[in-house]
Amino acid sequence: QSDSYLKKHKGVIFLSRLTTPECIDSLENLEIRDSDLFLVTFPKSGTVWSQQIVSLILNEGHRKGTEDIDNMVRAPWIEYNIYNIDFNTRPDPRLFTSHLPHYLMPKDLRNMRGKIIYVYRNPKDVLVSFYHFQKILVLSQHPESWEHCMDLFMSGEVLGGSWFDHIRDWYTNKKDYNILFMAYEEMKKDLRSAIMKICSFLDKKLDDEEVDIIVEKSTFENMKDDPLANYTFLSEDICDGSKGSFLRKGTIGDWKNLMTVAQSEMFDRVLQERMKDLPIKFIWD
Ligand code: PPS
Repeated sequence: QSDSYLKKHKGVIFLSRLTTPECIDSLENLEIRDSDLFLVTFPKSGTVWSQQIVSLILNEGHRKGTEDIDNMVRAPWIEYNIYNIDFNTRPDPRLFTSHLPHYLMPKDLRNMRGKIIYVYRNPKDVLVSFYHFQKILVLSQHPESWEHCMDLFMSGEVLGGSWFDHIRDWYTNKKDYNILFMAYEEMKKDLRSAIMKICSFLDKKLDDEEVDIIVEKSTFENMKDDPLANYTFLSEDICDGSKGSFLRKGTIGDWKNLMTVAQSEMFDRVLQERMKDLPIKFIWD
């Protein structure tokens, strides 16, 4: 691992300043309640967007703007508990976030306790988003070049580990979980329908007006201006806001602006080779 800020543990690459292997190992024994909900993603696939959507669905106070709590507290990462939240005393329903593969998640989830929403995104846009994110992430080395960043991504040597392994791991083990797979692009193309689908998975009945509020508060433009959702609240030793934004562009197909035709074709070949037996379709533009 050439980046001294990153550490590899059991196939996962994580930010070594924000967690430890011991912390990650302890999570398998986290006690799960039936009402728990986990948002699981590979980094840069729509994590903070789903934190916003789902916390608004679950909590009337957030919808009404009466609770002044940022998204990282509403839906803390279990493996990066940087606010030291006591998970055990959290009221129901607890909402958590994680980038972990299934085999490092709390074991109880496999007994169909709790629910999981797995958000995935076409991997070329994940890679491009990651490339730009590295410029603002203080806790990681800055990319030497786009080509280098792509090489690292293809070989799984980036934050989160291998994108290919992550999605395969979750998809092939889905029968063990109460899990909903959502595509970033599906949310982007029809946000309202995506929100309704999540509500139905959560057995949450909201009226049209309540859904309107969630749609409104979850658009890219509104989240970018929302100090509780735009991640400008991260401290400067984690993210350098002067170098760019966490909510950067929020579009489908930005990979076309960075990838050459040859790089894109190479990516397609690797994807075809490694994903051929998985029935997941990606939306590229
Ligand atoms: S992280 O670091 O893993 O938590 O990042 P993550 O939140 O998964 O991914 C960041 C990208 O998601 C985009 N984003 C959105 N897109 C559309 N609509 C909304 N509301 C939204 N909120 C966040 C964000 O802009 C990053 O993508 P890029 O392509 O870099 O803009």
